[in-house]
Amino acid sequence: MDTAPDTPFTPPDAVRRLGVLISGRGSNMQAILEAIAAGRLDATVALVLANRADAAGLAVARAAGVETLVLEHGRWPSRSAYDAAVAGELAARGVSLVCLAGFMRLIGAPLLERFPERVLNIHPSLLPAFPGLDAQRQAIDHGVKVAGATVHLVDAALDAGPIVAQAAVPVAPDDTVASLSARILAEEHRLYPVAVGTVLAGGWRVEGRRFLVRPPRPDERPASR
Ligand code: GRF
Repeated sequence: MDTAPDTPFTPPDAVRRLGVLISGRGSNMQAILEAIAAGRLDATVALVLANRADAAGLAVARAAGVETLVLEHGRWPSRSAYDAAVAGELAARGVSLVCLAGFMRLIGAPLLERFPERVLNIHPSLLPAFPGLDAQRQAIDHGVKVAGATVHLVDAALDAGPIVAQAAVPVAPDDTVASLSARILAEEHRLYPVAVGTVLAGGWRVEGRRFLVRPPRPDERPASR
């Protein structure tokens, strides 16, 4: 994902077909569906894929008329065989951008190579602080005063790829994991559709670790009065 400084900015995505990968509740997936329904995000969710048959978000997706698919990872002999199967299902539906939304699996080469710079994840911390599990508990235990959410491009490392967007929330002295998680989750629901729109809009490139959006050209700037 390390890109030379003269790499051209990405063009807008002509295909705006999302594959959303979930393992549980699916509230971020729902936020994406709601943003599309409300006209705030120009995209289609082509497939919601879960690695667990009991993922509650599957019912939400079905109720919204979205195709769902369960691929239980235990049925594949290896991580890479599983990732290749997931990549194949997404590609078969013409998916152009993969959104991890509470998908509790590390993503490997077969998926990343099929969708280069087109796999997004949302994480409930201000990365690089508190990657991994229980990010909200980590934040409270560490005593930070500000927490938040991050949407990033996914690479082979955990919660580590270039940052597309972040949102901060305050941590109150009496916060519990539940109260802080709820405050962060509200920001996640706002942030994820916006970040998906940013990636689909094009005009960005990755430079080193940085996700850089092209500054507007003079003719694109709002007219000053
Ligand atoms: C969210 O907090 C997300 O940041 C993390 O897992 C949780 C998923 O929640 N990766 P939901 O399934 O989207 O409700």
